[in-house]
Amino acid sequence: MLPTRVTLCEVGPRDGLQNEAHPVPAAAKIGLVQRLQAAGLREIEVTSFVSPKWVPQMADNTEVLMGLARPAGVRYAVLTPNLKGLEAALALPADKRPDEVVVFGAASEAFSQRNINCSIDESLARFAPVVAAAHEAGLKVRAALSCAVGCPYQGAVSPDEVERVVVGFKAIGVDHVGIADTIGVGTPRAVQAAMERALKHFPLVEVSGHFHDTYGQALANILACLQMGVHSFDASVAGLGGCPYAKGATGNVATEDVVFMLDGMGIETGVNLDALVDAGAWISGQLGRAPVSRVGRAILARRGVALDVPA
Ligand code: HMG
Ligand code: MG
Repeated sequence: MLPTRVTLCEVGPRDGLQNEAHPVPAAAKIGLVQRLQAAGLREIEVTSFVSPKWVPQMADNTEVLMGLARPAGVRYAVLTPNLKGLEAALALPADKRPDEVVVFGAASEAFSQRNINCSIDESLARFAPVVAAAHEAGLKVRAALSCAVGCPYQGAVSPDEVERVVVGFKAIGVDHVGIADTIGVGTPRAVQAAMERALKHFPLVEVSGHFHDTYGQALANILACLQMGVHSFDASVAGLGGCPYAKGATGNVATEDVVFMLDGMGIETGVNLDALVDAGAWISGQLGRAPVSRVGRAILARRGVALDVPA
């Protein structure tokens, strides 16, 4: 039995925009989040509290959160790799604070070093006080597990390597684990094998999939996860993004593509596809290009919108 309802976490404002080479004004980030929440997204990864030397694009994190009005029922998440990041997020006025924070580790040592400048064990030791302090402040903690099927530096990643970090996340008390195919090399059986390891240690409602679409496999991987009962996925409007520490990786699966597939399967998301396509077209226009989403492009073409900027 497939799930009847799916929760989508929109990561375009963070995972998408973090990778833009040219500075994106805070006003555009705010405009994007407002359009996404108006389209019905209820979980949005808004920004990161990471070192601005590492990811300059997210340096305006406070400005973005201060500029947002969060409707009832919408939850904001932010990335916090260490206590410094968490403290900055908690320093915001109560009504501007995120609802959730995300710690992010990797299943491969090489990617851990490149992305957060420490080993996997060091990362877990660094996350432990972040998890405790976030819980103390009443925030939910999600953990993202990068390179769960493949690593740009190491190559193939085994389910045992995934499970080792999943167990580490469990030990430090995170609430949720997201299995991430950072470079989009996963195919359905490999993704299911990684997911199985997460589901050994976390309940179904606290496991999600985060699939980059570099090799065009993301929708197939989502379907493979739905067949296992997994019903939470990250997606990025207009297919924005990539990872600054994973060369050649393109964006997450486009939210429009996921919503179209789920609508067609009769699986509820609460998202209005037309409004979502508008949000994707808007941010793509702000960035000076056409949306990457196949569904976004098809719907815009049907509306008679000329996509004269190549994707
Ligand atoms: P480090 O250089 O080892 O840290 O970086 P440090 O503690 O030595 O600090 C270096 C400098 O950064 C210091 O400043 C700190 O104050 C500052 P200085 O004294 O030189 O002026 N600093 C900070 N500033 C603001 N906020 C902070 C913060 N922390 C330190 N939180 C660190 C270690 C983890 C900080 C760094 O490696 C980093 O920020 N990495 C972030 C990388 C990143 O954001 N990658 C992209 C997101 S992950 C992703 O996209 C994957 C995901 O989508 C899932 C998937 O697809 O796989 C989640
Ligand atoms: Mg990602």
